[in-house]
Amino acid sequence: MNPTLESIFSRRSIRKYTDRLVEPEKLDLLLQAAMAAPTAMNCKPWQFVVVTDPGKLAHFRRRLIFGNRNAPAAIVVCGEPRLSLNPTARLFWVQDCSNAAENILIAATSLGLGTVWVGIHPVAAFVRVVRDVVGLPRHVTPLCLIYVGYPAEAKSSRTQYDKSRVHWQKYK
Ligand SMILES: Cc1cc2nc3c(=O)[nH]c(=O)nc-3n(C[C@H](O)[C@H](O)[C@H](O)COP(=O)(O)O)c2cc1C
Repeated sequence: MNPTLESIFSRRSIRKYTDRLVEPEKLDLLLQAAMAAPTAMNCKPWQFVVVTDPGKLAHFRRRLIFGNRNAPAAIVVCGEPRLSLNPTARLFWVQDCSNAAENILIAATSLGLGTVWVGIHPVAAFVRVVRDVVGLPRHVTPLCLIYVGYPAEAKSSRTQYDKSRVHWQKYK
């Protein structure tokens, strides 16, 4: 299979990680992949906070009820809607940042890394935790936190393709 499709199908949420640290060059590659994503009117209304500090990661684990994962790194994908100067483009910040997040997940898979997306926005309590831990200003909103590390669990590739959800020409 071609390597791009292979990475898309084999990307799975990894919730158990080894102690091996993620090389900074690999984290940098993930951010390059993130910022290659398409955005409305190419406004790129995003900010990324890379967290490798064990104390901050411990805060995430303890304070995010669905985010208790032992990865050695996390990338917080944030939206800064005001960077979209066009008012219509500004409405699309969630899609823009989601595209960047998905690029991170697929690029990580291709580098032999595991990831899991932890949803933050629009749950106010989760947003508060992340703002507090990484010191975000009011105009920057954390969309999600992506744990990154070397997998300590194996999961199979799959597509989840469901023919009944596909409609040609007209919804049926
Ligand atoms: C918006 C969003 C929020 C998610 N939040 C969490 C989360 O808080 N904790 C978690 O362990 N997984 C979370 N996930 C991962 C999903 O549970 C996972 O993608 C889904 O079960 C499918 O499994 P797969 O990623 O292995 O294909 C989230 C995924 C998305 C897209």
